[in-house]
Amino acid sequence: MPRYSRIVILTGAGISAESGVDTFRAKDGIWSKVDYRDVATPQGFARDPDRVHAFYNSRRRGLASVEPNAAHAALARLERAFAGTVLLVTQNIDDLHERAGSSRLIHMHGELVRALCANCGQRHEWSDDMDTDHPCPTCHSAGFLRPDVVWFGEMPYQMERISAAIALCDLFVSIGTSGNVYPAAGFVEEAKMAGAHTVELNLEPSEGRSHFAEAHYGLATELVPAFVDRVLS
Ligand code: APR
Repeated sequence: MPRYSRIVILTGAGISAESGVDTFRAKDGIWSKVDYRDVATPQGFARDPDRVHAFYNSRRRGLASVEPNAAHAALARLERAFAGTVLLVTQNIDDLHERAGSSRLIHMHGELVRALCANCGQRHEWSDDMDTDHPCPTCHSAGFLRPDVVWFGEMPYQMERISAAIALCDLFVSIGTSGNVYPAAGFVEEAKMAGAHTVELNLEPSEGRSHFAEAHYGLATELVPAFVDRVLS
């Protein structure tokens, strides 16, 4: 394997699947059980905030019963051992990458364990259930707290920083994402324009499979450690 110096990694729900976290578009996935328009849009939150809080409260509570898997651990090992730079961009709102030890990490779709106040704009660590009565710890107004999660129709976080890193990378690896949701699904094209080698590691070919120079299909807990070994060898 050639020597790379700047790696950008994109992960999606598939990297957490073997930890027991549901993915979205599998036939029995999250969006087969609940309509994303009711729980993952600003309109859905305005319509029925209690329903949205219940949806995220259940997923936040679920974090206590799942652990990072070998794929999360391999990416943390890559960050520690790689001589160049690694930036991990995740679409996931779980905390498994942090718990595995990754720190150069961007949650472009936000995080389950944070709250955002729609009144004062402040963000807060939040590990308990959230509801509309909770006053914001900063502005003390009630009725404005929402999960600090990027909903459909909202702008993902830190897009400038992500695009700048992709423009400079020489290796782009996409792991466990179906390539259905933009802007994340467009990152591989940006990486190709930067001249990077592009790799897809996924259970099955994604929507963007034709854009990748290299692809390996199977379980993330097998593919990711093996790939990290190759990069570090
Ligand atoms: N190992 C590797 N890949 C897996 C595994 C596994 N064990 N299990 C599932 N996958 C793959 C699936 O084949 C699928 O391509 O992970 C991908 C998961 O795709 P989605 O469920 O669509 O999740 P994701 O791509 O992360 O969704 C992107 O959509 O709903 C929004 O905001 C939400 O961040 C999410 C975004």
